[in-house]
Amino acid sequence: MSINFLSNRSILKGVLARRLLVAILFFSSLVTLALTSFQLYLDYNININGLEESIEEIRVSHLDSLGQNLWHLNDDQIILQLLGILEIPNIEYIKVSTPEGDGYQVGKMPETKNIIERRYKISYRQNNETFVLGHLDVTASLVGIYAQLRDRFFIILASQATKTFIVSFFILIIFHQLVGKYLEELVSKISKINIGNLSSETEINKIKESPPDEIDQLLESFNQLQSTLLKDIHKRELVELRLKESQKMEALGTLAGGVAHDFNNILQGIMNCFMLIGTEVNDKSSAAEKVNMGNILCERGRDLVNQILLYSRADSGHDELINLPPIIDDVVNILRHSFDKNVHYDIEIFYQSGFLKGNATQLRQVIFNLCNNALYAIKNIENPTIRISLESKSIPRGNHYNLATGEYYYLVISDNGYGMSQEVQKRIFEPFFTTKEVGKGTGLGLSVVQSIILNHGGHISVNSVEGEGTTFSLLLPISDI
Ligand SMILES: Nc1ncnc2c1ncn2[C@@H]1O[C@H](COP(=O)(O)OP(=O)(O)OP(=O)(O)O)[C@@H](O)[C@H]1O
Ligand SMILES: [Mg+2]
Repeated sequence: MSINFLSNRSILKGVLARRLLVAILFFSSLVTLALTSFQLYLDYNININGLEESIEEIRVSHLDSLGQNLWHLNDDQIILQLLGILEIPNIEYIKVSTPEGDGYQVGKMPETKNIIERRYKISYRQNNETFVLGHLDVTASLVGIYAQLRDRFFIILASQATKTFIVSFFILIIFHQLVGKYLEELVSKISKINIGNLSSETEINKIKESPPDEIDQLLESFNQLQSTLLKDIHKRELVELRLKESQKMEALGTLAGGVAHDFNNILQGIMNCFMLIGTEVNDKSSAAEKVNMGNILCERGRDLVNQILLYSRADSGHDELINLPPIIDDVVNILRHSFDKNVHYDIEIFYQSGFLKGNATQLRQVIFNLCNNALYAIKNIENPTIRISLESKSIPRGNHYNLATGEYYYLVISDNGYGMSQEVQKRIFEPFFTTKEVGKGTGLGLSVVQSIILNHGGHISVNSVEGEGTTFSLLLPISDI
């Protein structure tokens, strides 16, 4: 328990703590007053009864001997006896009166109405005859009893008040420890929270009680609320980022599409010129060699332009019913004949029927671009292998791909090439991002793949380990026809 914790200021700072204190003090004062009054009432009854008994005792033990002394006119004995009675607590005045008018008295008649008075007949019995000799008047004052009760009242009140104060203080400490300090922390954290600064640091930690108490539950709900908000904000940021990216891509695609179209015509013109020049120069001359080189460069330019056109038109014409396995076979056949003959193609197709609604040229381009990248990555590698597998997969509701529920083609294209670093993986779908040396790659291949897959209602993901290889996994919806 820290000193700070015990300081009154910190405990009484909360309005709740002050209200609790006032309530405890108010109710315990009421209860103390009621109990004290009841106790004093009981004490009063006991004292009065005690006094009554004492007076009765005087009658029992003094009346006979007083009768004897009065019969024998033994004045000294009578006075002595009366003084003895006066010693009894609260007896203030005693008087013996005789029919002749003379009598004896000791003490002083109290000047208050709070008295008890008793009168007894004094008699003497001789030879079976009873002689009435006079009366004994006993007066007791209640002032002493009242003073005693008042003193007791203040003592009880003072001790109860001290007890109440100590108990209230301990209740406050316990309240502060169990509830107050967490509420204060909660209020301070909530007041500081804004959407931008949510983090695990704004969580509130408490040693959990077992079973959990209401404060545990409150703090748990607060922390959960925060993490839900955090997740939602993160999701929103991702969606915003994707939206920005797609808007950027769309604008880029439109611009690039327009330029590419015109550029294609220019390239075609240049190629025609090279063809005409080619017919006029000797095949073996150095001019023919340069014409040939010009043609190759024009073809490369045309490939680039075609990619740009594909990218900008990725969302057009998606109504053919396509069977994927023959397309895969087509592409692999072309690759087998045109590229490195040592590459091993490992093709597993577990799914033969089912159609995909889309654009066959574009999907062929997707498989071609992915295989082309794989071929580049496995150059100069031992046992270069490209593995292609196709199967179907059911995608359930609420999946993490954000895809509609249903049956999908699950196409996986992997290689055992040099792989990619995490930094490269993050950027591969950006248009014009390439790690190939200048003139070798446009950096458009995967951007084209991604926009075609998205426009077909599918999903693409990559998994790559540097030095081990790369796997691209694609999901494409199977049409119900
Ligand atoms: N299978 C793969 N293995 C290793 N790296 C890859 C693979 N596929 C893509 N990459 C990386 O992603 C980059 C972008 O690929 P993308 O197909 O978009 O462009 P590119 O291949 O560089 O150019 P282009 O497709 O015009 O030849 C590549 O430069 C390469 O770094
Ligand atoms: Mg490529």
